[in-house]
Amino acid sequence: MPRPSTIAIDGPAASGKSTIGGVLARRLGYLYLDTGAMYRAVTWMALERRVDIGDEEGVTALAREIEIAITKPTVDDGRQYTVLADGKDVTWEIRRPEVDAHVSPVSAYPGVRQVLSEQQRRIGQQGAVVMIGRDIGTVVMPDADLKIYLDASAEERARRRYLELLERGEHADYEEILRAMRRRDRIDSNRAVAPLRAADDAIRVDTDNLSVDEVLKVVEGIVEDASVGVEKGITL
Ligand code: DC
Repeated sequence: MPRPSTIAIDGPAASGKSTIGGVLARRLGYLYLDTGAMYRAVTWMALERRVDIGDEEGVTALAREIEIAITKPTVDDGRQYTVLADGKDVTWEIRRPEVDAHVSPVSAYPGVRQVLSEQQRRIGQQGAVVMIGRDIGTVVMPDADLKIYLDASAEERARRRYLELLERGEHADYEEILRAMRRRDRIDSNRAVAPLRAADDAIRVDTDNLSVDEVLKVVEGIVEDASVGVEKGITL
């Protein structure tokens, strides 16, 4: 039975995209691409090289210049993939709060989006891919075989991020995380280019009261249904 070859998963921060996308890709034997990691890598490099985050031209030039590679995990430390920025392993650095705090303005720059979207589109064209982000179903792969939009309330997403940080033994303040989450949602949803939004033909899954396993079951059910749909030539 033919399965959807290109799967787009979009949704706000901490909606469960990366956990679900990673497991789904592994089960299907597909490539997993977390496009947020690419925006984070550009942001990390800008901070590292002391490029002013408010300097649109400088940050865009940096996005053009640096080479970002996302590969299978190179270290067995719980990572889903390895992120290299100009050859340096930045997999964990790009998860730091400084990057969280600056990634939204960086990802709002049209030039940065153009550079990264093109790289993502090229990867998508090879097929057998689960790609996660904010604009995959709307801009990067508008013709994806299957589009899923994962959602959850800001409170629930802040709670997940908070527990994740505690689990990694890092400092975490729930109220602060919730404030940052709301701020990021606001910028991501209101930016002029490719704002966070579900594609009209995306299937929405509200994950508020679901465990990871439950969300996974729902999503795998959607993939199954889409497989039947593809066979019959039905577009979901
Ligand atoms: O999913 P994440 O938290 O790692 O994403 C980091 C930031 O990158 C987020 O604030 C929005 C942005 N992003 C985007 O604009 N487009 C994407 N396709 C993926 C992420």
